[in-house]
Amino acid sequence: MLITRRERFNAAHRLYRKDWSDEKNMEVFGKCSNPNWHGHNYILYVTVKGDVGPETGFVINLKVLSQIIRTKIIEKIDHKNLNLEVDFMKDKIVSTENIAIAIWEEIEQDILSNGAELHCVKVVETENNFVEYFGN
Ligand code: NI
Repeated sequence: MLITRRERFNAAHRLYRKDWSDEKNMEVFGKCSNPNWHGHNYILYVTVKGDVGPETGFVINLKVLSQIIRTKIIEKIDHKNLNLEVDFMKDKIVSTENIAIAIWEEIEQDILSNGAELHCVKVVETENNFVEYFGN
């Protein structure tokens, strides 16, 4: 059984490599390389896998899952600059792919300790672009 919790956050970022010129960054990363930052209204879907507990009827208590996502992720990234202010994105290219991998790494253990397994982290950056990470 899979169960999914949705959370939202707004954050600023810039896609760039320090070792490339602004021109080269713009060529590869396009508008997302604007040196003056820009933001997205991200949507995060965390999907957890497990058996339905006979006592609760739950795979995981959604209140607990929501709490994990909020304390480990949302409080750290909502209304923040992902390049400058978020410890788990430090020294990474702030692509949607890397955001999804970092979120996976931040919450995987907590979900395991609550008796379920992390199945998918989906990060929606725009209406048309999203990534799904399944741990590899
Ligand atoms: Ni962008």
